[in-house]
Amino acid sequence: MADADHSARQVTGVPHRYASEEKVKVSGKRGRARSRQLAEVRMPKKTIPPRKTVRQSQSEITQVVLPNDANPLGTILGGKVMHLVDIVAAIAAHRHSSSFVVTAAVDHMDFRCPIRVGEVIVLKSSVNRVFHCSMEVGVKVFREEQFTNRRRHTSSAYLTFVAIDENRKPKSAPKIFPETTTEKRRYREAENRRRWRISQLRSKQARAR
Ligand SMILES: CC(C)(COP(=O)(O)OP(=O)(O)OC[C@H]1O[C@@H](n2cnc3c(N)ncnc32)[C@H](O)[C@@H]1OP(=O)(O)O)[C@@H](O)C(=O)NCCC(=O)NCCS
Repeated sequence: MADADHSARQVTGVPHRYASEEKVKVSGKRGRARSRQLAEVRMPKKTIPPRKTVRQSQSEITQVVLPNDANPLGTILGGKVMHLVDIVAAIAAHRHSSSFVVTAAVDHMDFRCPIRVGEVIVLKSSVNRVFHCSMEVGVKVFREEQFTNRRRHTSSAYLTFVAIDENRKPKSAPKIFPETTTEKRRYREAENRRRWRISQLRSKQARAR
């Protein structure tokens, strides 16, 4: 009976989820060959991308603020910060998914303190959670004072990136494996933010109709 079931699976190519629960009692050479066969059937390696840790894709940009980046008050333009936030987040999403990515959404951003010309801007990004094709990336921006090298947190942002294939269609991204307490907290909180984003998107779509 087990053999008939197994050949049926080989024909359809559908992996059997509960194959390990089968009571197959074949020992010796035949037993080992049979276990190898079952293992091949159970693991659809090509369809499930491997899980990656947060550390593997964490990214950082460090730049000195130049006069060309500044407003007439001599502090960095908000648009310049937003550009760098998009870039550093895209690098993390790209490293995580090993594919092309596009920005689907940027959540609220504020600027808590100015960054002056001559100071250093530091941006750090990490993938907080992967859903299916989309992933939330968190970015923290710091200003580094010119002579003390003291860092101050100036902005935070959450961005949603979607992994896309060569036909520009969304494709699934590998799951993320949070390791530290902070990574686990960000992972949990990302779920609520996603719900909020989707509800906002739906209400905007409903208003546009
Ligand atoms: C983002 C984009 C690829 C989504 O394509 P789509 O056909 O709407 O795809 P789907 O509806 O299947 O959604 C795919 C995923 O994106 C997410 N998504 C789509 N629009 C989103 C939005 N506005 N905010 C957050 N997530 C969004 C979906 O929730 C889904 O996530 P999941 O797979 O993890 O569940 C498409 O809207 C696009 O190309 N937008 C332009 C991107 C771009 O050019 N960005 C540069 C700045 S303008």
